[in-house]
Amino acid sequence: MKNPFIINGIVPDEYFCDRIRETNKLIKCIGNQTNVLLTSPRRMGKTQLIRHVYNQNEISENYHTFYVDIYSTTSLHEFILLLSKEIYTQLVPKGRQALDVFISVLKSLTGSFGYDPMTGLPVFDVRLGDIRSPELTLSEIFSYLENTDKPCVCTIDEFQQIGKYPEDNTEALLRTYIQRMSNCVFIFAGSDRHTLENMFNSPAKPFYNSVEQMFLDKIDREVYVDFIDDMFARNGRIISRNAAGYVYDLFEGHTYYVHQTLHNAFAYNEPDVEISEELMDDTVSDILQDKENSFLTQLSLLNYVQKETLIAIAKDVKASEVTSVSFVKRHSLQSPSSVQNAIRHLLRLQMITYHIEGRTKVYSVSDRFLQMWIARKY
Ligand SMILES: Nc1ncnc2c1ncn2[C@@H]1O[C@H](COP(=O)(O)OP(=O)(O)O)[C@@H](O)[C@H]1O
Ligand SMILES: [Mg+2]
Repeated sequence: MKNPFIINGIVPDEYFCDRIRETNKLIKCIGNQTNVLLTSPRRMGKTQLIRHVYNQNEISENYHTFYVDIYSTTSLHEFILLLSKEIYTQLVPKGRQALDVFISVLKSLTGSFGYDPMTGLPVFDVRLGDIRSPELTLSEIFSYLENTDKPCVCTIDEFQQIGKYPEDNTEALLRTYIQRMSNCVFIFAGSDRHTLENMFNSPAKPFYNSVEQMFLDKIDREVYVDFIDDMFARNGRIISRNAAGYVYDLFEGHTYYVHQTLHNAFAYNEPDVEISEELMDDTVSDILQDKENSFLTQLSLLNYVQKETLIAIAKDVKASEVTSVSFVKRHSLQSPSSVQNAIRHLLRLQMITYHIEGRTKVYSVSDRFLQMWIARKY
């Protein structure tokens, strides 16, 4: 029996929970040629939402859709490689002619494409070193997108990453091209809300005021509980409404963690057993146990102060005033300044995040499973 709680790959429509309002809003923006900035905490559902939007007939029939996640890229060269590979991949099913058009536009990479002797189709084997004039190649890619038969939607996920490229004009460069396009809508997405909002909301920055901003919040509790109920019932299984609400509350509705727990509860319990709150607790404990080795490895990479600071934040769940004397004392830490340094390091590793409440920064451990594991273990 198929597990209805999908935790790997794209979630098909029949297993996709809610996001009706957000889906409609994105479709509207695309129709209106409005570029969008979509932010949320990690693992709340941005990528799935975009994939879901691409999958709707209104979009799939009328647009070419492209999606790149640039989280792992560290230079403009890599960005270009990823984007051109994505376009190539989307064109493969359309056949030789479509590929040839694309390749003929990418003049700066001529000679970097091979041909498959069996199919006669061009093969994408461009290497980083083949991109000798990135600005030129980039302009060719955008010129291709601007001249396709149907309008395009192009998502650049984890967009904050471009701020880390060594080339210091990437933002301005992209902005220049994107500003000129009339055939292509861009969705910029990412989890690093502070960096992204800074990129789009500071008057001095190239992308200032150039997008409609959307913040993806958690799915409504009622709607999520109904969905969970329905997924179990449709597969001839039962979960108590309390148990469904319990797992939602345990992770404050944070989609990935709720879904992962339900996936395991569905997978590892006998079909005739009603899933109760106790069984949910057992499921979470099993997940933490399974992840223990990876958690230990993550902690082993931290020095003493960094580790103690992470533990202190995990124990508070939501930690504010972290550099105050009282926080430092309560958790037997060394000093406010050493905590400050540790926080900076943990933020850089994305092991912790913060949001702003009133005027204070409230820190939490990014991975809710890691937070729970630390709180229980230390
Ligand atoms: N609307 C949804 N319906 C079902 N599952 C979802 C939904 N949104 C997110 N998920 C689950 O949460 C996980 C994380 O979502 P993802 O889109 O990758 O988050 P983000 O891109 O914000 O980090 C997905 O792999 C999936 O298991
Ligand atoms: Mg994502």
